[in-house]
Amino acid sequence: MVANRAKLKLAVLISGRGSNLQSLIDACDDADYPVEIVTVVSNVPGVQGLDKAEAAGIETTVIDHTAFDGREAFENALHDAISASGAEFVCLAGFMRMLTGGFVGKWRDRMINIHPSLLPDYKGLHVHERVVEAGEKFSGCTVHFVVPDLDSGPIIVQAKVPVEPGDDADTLAARVLDEEHKILPEAVRLIAEDRVSVDGDRVIIT
Ligand code: GRF
Repeated sequence: MVANRAKLKLAVLISGRGSNLQSLIDACDDADYPVEIVTVVSNVPGVQGLDKAEAAGIETTVIDHTAFDGREAFENALHDAISASGAEFVCLAGFMRMLTGGFVGKWRDRMINIHPSLLPDYKGLHVHERVVEAGEKFSGCTVHFVVPDLDSGPIIVQAKVPVEPGDDADTLAARVLDEEHKILPEAVRLIAEDRVSVDGDRVIIT
């Protein structure tokens, strides 16, 4: 990080276990990591990721989508919570709600997602089952900017892993997850260092 530059204020959105959140928390333990997680928001109450945030002393908010009358009301509350935290940038880390174009537009080029496949292949759910079923020899994970279309958007970082003989969805998921925990903090670092720009459908890293 450039000396004296303020750390990037990051909001992390989760829906569950929060192992990718933990990888960011661990990265932030390094005083030189140019990022501060200012809030963790979950759309699901009581998930493990909230415990991980609280253990790290990070403010948490639950915005339970089932308590809202429609997506717009939910997303307005989500936007308000993120904005109130002072976050400049949003990371979807296992956040399992689809977001409308209205919300995505408010955070255009300021919101990323991690997905457990080599996008643009295997968008959507049940990725590892589908990869194993298809007999792929490789899989991986992708960090990308969020656009209104699901699991699309300019790709920032990817990592590739082999699909081993005998893999099932769980063994493959574990191998991919190890890589997710590396590329997510790396992508966020590149962004915080102002080294990432979006040019149409492409990301340029300098
Ligand atoms: C990860 O595999 C992520 O790529 C996907 O959901 C999973 C979340 O895991 N979007 P965790 O909650 O970060 O442990």
